[in-house]
Amino acid sequence: MKQRQLYVETFGCQMNDYDSEIMVCLMEDKNYVQTQNINQADLILLNTCSIREKAEQKVYSYLGRLRGLKEKNPDLLIGITGCVAQQQGKKLLNDLPYLDLVVGTHGIYRLPQLVEEINKKGHQICWTNFDYKLNNATHPGPNQIIVKANLAIMQGCDNFCTYCVVPYVRGREISRPVPDILEEAGGLLANGVKEITLLGQNVNSYGRGLEPKITFTGLIKKIADLPPALSRLRFVTSHPKDLSVELIRAFDEVKPLCEHVHLPVQSGSTRILKAMHRKYTREEYLSKVAELRDVCPDIALTTDVIVGFPGETQADFDQTMDLLDRVNFDGIFSFKYSDRPMTQAMKLRNKIPEEVKSARLTELQALQKNISLKKNQALVGQELEVLVEGPSKRIAGQLTGRTRTNKIVNFACETVSRGSLVNVLIEAASANTLRGTVRHE
Ligand code: SAH
Ligand code: SF4
Ligand code: F3S
Repeated sequence: MKQRQLYVETFGCQMNDYDSEIMVCLMEDKNYVQTQNINQADLILLNTCSIREKAEQKVYSYLGRLRGLKEKNPDLLIGITGCVAQQQGKKLLNDLPYLDLVVGTHGIYRLPQLVEEINKKGHQICWTNFDYKLNNATHPGPNQIIVKANLAIMQGCDNFCTYCVVPYVRGREISRPVPDILEEAGGLLANGVKEITLLGQNVNSYGRGLEPKITFTGLIKKIADLPPALSRLRFVTSHPKDLSVELIRAFDEVKPLCEHVHLPVQSGSTRILKAMHRKYTREEYLSKVAELRDVCPDIALTTDVIVGFPGETQADFDQTMDLLDRVNFDGIFSFKYSDRPMTQAMKLRNKIPEEVKSARLTELQALQKNISLKKNQALVGQELEVLVEGPSKRIAGQLTGRTRTNKIVNFACETVSRGSLVNVLIEAASANTLRGTVRHE
């Protein structure tokens, strides 16, 4: 049978990257091979993100460009998966007649079956049921040698932060059973993977509803104990309200666990945090940071911040600026508040004008750029362990990798290869990257 070509475009977060890998694996079993050339594709999948309006718009403009391809090749199948697919469902098929398939966030395991059905019956299909099957959730594993891998340990979210669409498009929080996760992690290790990132919207609450009982830290320890020993273990994202003392201690006790936490704060104002339904105060957040630094003084901290949440006053924003000053984050992801369908915040009246949101974002990013630069400059002269990921895309002839604290390092070296752990002497720093030279023992 002739091999068919599959082109996948992924938008959004690491969870979507992971889902795309699964879809590729499932379709490879059905005689599809992945292509990087969209013009040669027999099946195009857009795995989409709906976190902010801009993210959703990006998907529609991309889809618009596919129309021409379909006109040229009527046999081409075009599918949309992920969070926009879940959110819009059948409406997408009605609005865009050249679309063949809509598959929601729980339906990716049905993809081969759905594609077969379209090929047989020749009509559009939409599958957006929330029917995540825990048993069949095992990732078949990447078919090429990779240095770093993602591993989803849960699906969905129960937090319902008032601005956030995720609980609606990913469904309720479900933890994957421990044996599934260990099997998948073991497969990755056997494949030579050096670094695993555990994925979930709120990994700290992992284990809810599982028997026998287990905490997220318990799971981390089991993964760290698997043979052959893992070099690096990371996780995203942890919610400050659930960051336990047990997990904080793990940064000292579990060797592969990297010294980095992404701990989204969203706002430095307790009043806004309450309106966001985040369930912690500014003071509680600051004390978690202090506890983390107590246990692990060099831990890198990154965060997410939203500016211009409905009702955010200048005083609230000043508190966010002050929190950034106090915490000294290594890096932040910052966003202007964006109205999302179905969310509670969408219904609030006191929306912040676009120009105010833009001005606040610019101010916040300028402050953080300085902080990140100073933090990185303080690393100049230190020798840091770097996991080599391959040639740098930006600087010809250089290699790139990351430190345990997740900082990007570019360096020149001809003798090391992808996947090696090397010590690099840091010689220069910008707000986003470090530059150095490999130290040979
Ligand atoms: N589960 C993670 C993050 C999910 S989304 C957590 O709880 O932290 C990633 C980030 O997008 C969020 O942390 C938040 O900063 C941002 N975000 C989510 N909804 C948003 C919205 N409606 N407008 C602007 N930013 C948003
Ligand atoms: Fe969204 Fe909040 Fe859940 Fe994160 S914890 S996914 S921000 S609802
Ligand atoms: Fe986007 Fe869905 Fe992830 S909305 S951020 S792709 S969970």
